[in-house]
Amino acid sequence: MQMRFDGLLGFPGGFVNSSEETLEAGLSRELLEELGVALPISVEDHVASCHAPASSPSSSSSRLITHFYVKKMEEEQIREVERAAASTAKDHGQEVLGMVRVPLYTTKGGGGLAPFLSHSFIGNARSQLVDSLLRFNLVAPEELHKALTHSLKIHTDTTEDLKASLALTEAKRKRF
Ligand SMILES: *[C@@H]1O[C@H](CO)[C@@H](O)[C@H](O)[C@H]1NC(C)=O
Repeated sequence: MQMRFDGLLGFPGGFVNSSEETLEAGLSRELLEELGVALPISVEDHVASCHAPASSPSSSSSRLITHFYVKKMEEEQIREVERAAASTAKDHGQEVLGMVRVPLYTTKGGGGLAPFLSHSFIGNARSQLVDSLLRFNLVAPEELHKALTHSLKIHTDTTEDLKASLALTEAKRKRF
């Protein structure tokens, strides 16, 4: 996945106007911009499509549809993409702040997948990730369920910590 310009985690991709190019050609174009590698994408790589959630509460419906593709790659190929993404990719440092690997494990202390899933994701990217991990048997359903439950707990703790940080800025704001 990648850390996006807006501070949210998401998958590489972008907008495609289907009257100008096919979804697969549009995705290849976006991948070249964001990863620096022109990965061929075919219709067979398509996994799921759904209506994007409305971007703001005031716009109750969105005309946007998200299409999710998954491509299986060898580790060496992934390393190559990671290298290109940080060097030759046009969007590096602009739209994309960096690639991240998803920890597909849980450490003794509960680290790994659960804390990763408790971060903030763009749109339905978290659901897309969870759905893919199940669909491609990358994580056992039981382990994923446990991780998500722990993730909710982390989320609650994070809220407490955020409130403490907020109080900190509140005090500073009054002083100046
Ligand atoms: C998509 O492309 C067509 C043809 O170039 C154009 O008329 C239309 O306005 C575009 N739609 C969006 C949403 O950009």
